[in-house]
Amino acid sequence: MSAKKATPDHDHDAIHKPSKEFSVKARIPSMAAYKKLYKESIDKPDKFWAREAKELVWQKPWSKVLNWKAPNATWFEGGKLNVCENCVDRHAAGPRKNKAAIIWEGEPGDKRTITYGQLQKEVCRFANVLVKNGVKAKDRVLIYMPMVPEAAIAMLACARIGAVHTVVFGGFASEAIVDRLEDSGATVILTADGGWRRGKVVPLKPVVDEALVKYKSVRRVIVLNRCGNEISMDADRDAWWHEEVAAASSKHVAKAFDSEHPLFVLYTSGSTGKPKGILHTSGGYLTGTYSTCKYIFDMRDEDVYWCTADVGWITGHSYIVYGPLANGVTQVMYEGAPNAPDFGRFWKMIEEHGVTIFYTAPTAIRAFIKAGDHFPAAHDLSSLRLLGSVGEPINPEAWNWYHKHIGGGRCPIVDTWWQTETGAILISPLPGATPCKAGTATHPFFGIDAAILDDAGNECKPGQDGRLVIRKPWPSMIRTIYGDKERYKKTYWSDYPGLYTAGDGARRDKAGNFWIIGRLDDVLNVSGHRLGTAEIESALVSHPAVAEAAVVGRPDDMKGQAVAAFVTLKGGFNESPELQAELRNHVGKVIGAIAKPDDLHFAPGLPKTRSGKIMRRLLKELVCTGKISGNITTLEDFTVIESLQRKIAKPV
Ligand code: WT7
Repeated sequence: MSAKKATPDHDHDAIHKPSKEFSVKARIPSMAAYKKLYKESIDKPDKFWAREAKELVWQKPWSKVLNWKAPNATWFEGGKLNVCENCVDRHAAGPRKNKAAIIWEGEPGDKRTITYGQLQKEVCRFANVLVKNGVKAKDRVLIYMPMVPEAAIAMLACARIGAVHTVVFGGFASEAIVDRLEDSGATVILTADGGWRRGKVVPLKPVVDEALVKYKSVRRVIVLNRCGNEISMDADRDAWWHEEVAAASSKHVAKAFDSEHPLFVLYTSGSTGKPKGILHTSGGYLTGTYSTCKYIFDMRDEDVYWCTADVGWITGHSYIVYGPLANGVTQVMYEGAPNAPDFGRFWKMIEEHGVTIFYTAPTAIRAFIKAGDHFPAAHDLSSLRLLGSVGEPINPEAWNWYHKHIGGGRCPIVDTWWQTETGAILISPLPGATPCKAGTATHPFFGIDAAILDDAGNECKPGQDGRLVIRKPWPSMIRTIYGDKERYKKTYWSDYPGLYTAGDGARRDKAGNFWIIGRLDDVLNVSGHRLGTAEIESALVSHPAVAEAAVVGRPDDMKGQAVAAFVTLKGGFNESPELQAELRNHVGKVIGAIAKPDDLHFAPGLPKTRSGKIMRRLLKELVCTGKISGNITTLEDFTVIESLQRKIAKPV
């Protein structure tokens, strides 16, 4: 990864100070102001977070800001609020009633603008639909939808009635839905017939149908008519969105829920086994996403904000739905691919809607660089004032291109480090204060006590690599892995008792900037998406031809990391390009297209220790460098690695 190559104290990359023009208007106008408030927030986190939380509407005030007994946090104990009311009703009831909440574009070019007043009506209608369909507080509702306003409406309607949504990215396959249904126990699914992607309809309802052949406990599927593709409807189980909504009232009184009431479960990949359900709750999560939007994106009433993520990921939850709407901002939402019809689509939309804040991922930026400078050059991007990046370290080439060709050299770039588990951004520049440098997420946000530790638990010296930890709880933190307290404790809180381990390697430079190196566990970061190697291996092994599989990551110029798989076939199956293609597609069918191995090597045997453990470290070295250099004395059979080395040199 590029951050690894960079030597923070010696590289000569420019340091970009925020412009005076930006700083004078910013909430945090200087490093001195950042340092002062940061110190206060660390010395007295309760005071800082209480002040932030008070900017939200609480139907009942809390009695205690934080109750902390590692690893269990209760934030704003005794307080009651309705998350949806905070994102919608309080704006609809005031001067923002006729302000655009969502300016949406479908991929084919259809457009809709929804004001806060209209959003309130839509959300209330759908809340009534959920209630009519028997959904109660704490029930789990699975959402599998394209990027249409109804996806946000569905999430907000769940929040409004205290139901727990679990959004599944529309690119995931039916087995991924089955896993998430089984784990969450969801009984209602909200979906659409399909969504538009690169000029084609991606069917969604048929994938749900396939999942429901295996999982029988879903009693209702509500289907949005988006594309008009042919689907089948089960008369007892399925209902059309538009018919349900037509019969529902647009009035619904939002009841208050406890601050720790569960808001959603979002599944993400871990180093072992099946994806884990990350549970987030209400008051703390909303405070974290609200506050980070306010300071890091410097959101203002006059801004037009656009985050290009999908609501199927945490970025879509925190920085499309909850954070921006809690701030009452106007945002752009887009259904389709960045290159539909060509790589000018985003820039055309920025020009047309006057986008002022734009938040995307390094992998997308690299695709734009490849597509050519003439795409952004053909559009007026002067409305932009702030850019953001998320998902992986941003390499200097991408940073510089983004800064010059999109930001016109004038927009600060906030490189935001965070995770599904952290709920909100934890490390990032503040746009009016922090000097930025390509590749570093710079400094921790207020109240975030980030540190880098060595194996013995001592703080690393500048330039020394270690593990990224957070030493104090924060409001939007994960509360548990759904249904598995033990795994929660073991995964995040046991490397250094009482401290949160992020799973990322990092180092600081002499100026104190944090440089994130990448995952330390068996988790890959492919185009900013997290994939567990174990998950891909088990998908491969579920194919009848496969005896054993090992998956590792290798660097990739576009995706950050690419998936390299080694597969041992069962007796009676022969290596062939057809089988290679079939196995890749099989992973696509089991998990989703994003998990398809980029390279698939047939291996007569896999390198193992004498105790039978696959030595992935060697495979990784092999795909990264083409050879093995390190210690291989624990190998059980040396010939295995020799034959693989020959294979890699000459793949099938
Ligand atoms: C992992 C979390 C947070 C939303 C998107 C991904 C990597 C994320 C950065 C960044 C370097 C980053 C980390 C982290 N990551 N942002 N700005 N610089 N690395 O969420 O799927 O939960 O993945 O993404 O490795 O642990 P996620």
